[in-house]
Amino acid sequence: MPLRITWSSLWICTLLIATLSGAGCQGRSATSTAVAPVAAPAAQPQARDLRGFVTSELSRFGGELLTSPPPSALDAYYPPSTPDLRYSLDMEDLYRAASYARHEAHHGRWDRAQKSWATFLQRLSVMRKQVPEWEERFGTVEMWSQALTPLFAAGRTPADADHIEKVWEPLRVRHCEECHQRERLRVIARYHYPVFYKIKLPAPDLEDPMLSAEQRSSATLSFRGYMRLLHGSMLDTLSHEEVGDLAAARLALQRTDKYLSNLHIACKMCHAMEPRLYFIDPASLALFRDLDKLLVPGEKHDTAAYRQQWEQGRNRVCTRCHDVHMLPAKLQRGWAVTTGEQRPGE
Ligand code: HEC
Ligand code: HEC
Ligand code: HEC
Repeated sequence: MPLRITWSSLWICTLLIATLSGAGCQGRSATSTAVAPVAAPAAQPQARDLRGFVTSELSRFGGELLTSPPPSALDAYYPPSTPDLRYSLDMEDLYRAASYARHEAHHGRWDRAQKSWATFLQRLSVMRKQVPEWEERFGTVEMWSQALTPLFAAGRTPADADHIEKVWEPLRVRHCEECHQRERLRVIARYHYPVFYKIKLPAPDLEDPMLSAEQRSSATLSFRGYMRLLHGSMLDTLSHEEVGDLAAARLALQRTDKYLSNLHIACKMCHAMEPRLYFIDPASLALFRDLDKLLVPGEKHDTAAYRQQWEQGRNRVCTRCHDVHMLPAKLQRGWAVTTGEQRPGE
């Protein structure tokens, strides 16, 4: 399966570059939007198991961080310990206090500005203690206070407000941004996404010759096993088409269709609300299903049209869904391997 490693390599490198350069990770929705598959310059798509990939390729970008999960003290601030993503909400409150303070200063409401600034310092002192490993990275409360409290107290003109921005910005970059770029992705993959490798799906086609004995007898597939079989059936459609065996290509296509039209079972395991079907909506799935109209034995076969529609389907169904879900899945798996919970390749 030559495409396999290529995709995952491109994926992680693309995201990692985006993340480390600060372009990605703007928030939860950014996991889906900030990671459009742009060129991935550093990717060397070669056969290599994931552990090798994670430890060698990723560490070139300072990715040792990505080979271990975030500090477990965070467990206390995410489900199931809390009903909501508490840590993320606390962060937002911290940010809001500082934003208000600067906003009020710009409007010349200095009393309110001072009050919000005091709130920021107070929240900061609480948040520093939440994750012991991260305490130093917030900077000390004294440092923040010495740098900015006098400016809020003395400030009375728009120029004073501008001065506050000049002092605030490098501190924000040094302390807030630095940690976001390094940690946020890990935290999202760990606490926002359910674990992909723990998902078990019913096997939609027990006739698939690619099923292992175990998969056949249990009639269940891991999520990744499902992906491999889906992919295998798709490659079969191409392979048979290539040698002109259109009847066999049609059979493989029917198999692909079974895998695709059962994939919604996986979506429901994670998305409590009915997710937008999006990648697997009927129109997208029809791109594959309708390929059979281009595979009529005995009729003149248009390879170019067939290939074009196949690629369109792959792009709309597979790539788009990978954009949103692949990276967390790969990080989760990487950690499971480094912590010994899983063997590489499992
Ligand atoms: C839920 C949305 C989703 C859709 C739709 C989807 N995939 Fe995947 N795919 C994933 C995720 C997530 C992973 C990573 C799983 C893991 O590593 O645990 C993955 C992994 C893979 C892999 C790598 C398996 C391995 O051995 O590591 C292949 C190949 C693959 N998908 C092919 C496809 C093809 C081909 C399609 C379209 C016909 C497709 N996928 C559609 C989510 C999706
Ligand atoms: C030691 C690490 C660390 C430091 C320092 C840090 N943050 Fe964060 N911050 C995070 C992590 C991790 C998240 C992602 C939480 C999530 O999405 O669950 C986050 C998320 C955020 C968010 C987005 C919340 C959301 O809606 O997803 C804001 C805003 C934020 N931080 C502001 C700040 C500000 C302002 C500072 C500096 C004064 C700061 N952070 C310092 C780790 C840090
Ligand atoms: C292992 C869990 C998991 C699986 C399986 C999964 N998703 Fe997601 N998906 C998530 C998480 C977590 C997000 C991040 C946004 C969020 O928290 O809703 C997300 C984001 C999305 C988004 C972008 C945000 C939005 O709502 O527009 C879409 C669309 C989506 N998933 C659709 C699907 C579809 C369709 C499937 C099945 C083919 C699927 N997902 C399978 C966990 C999963």
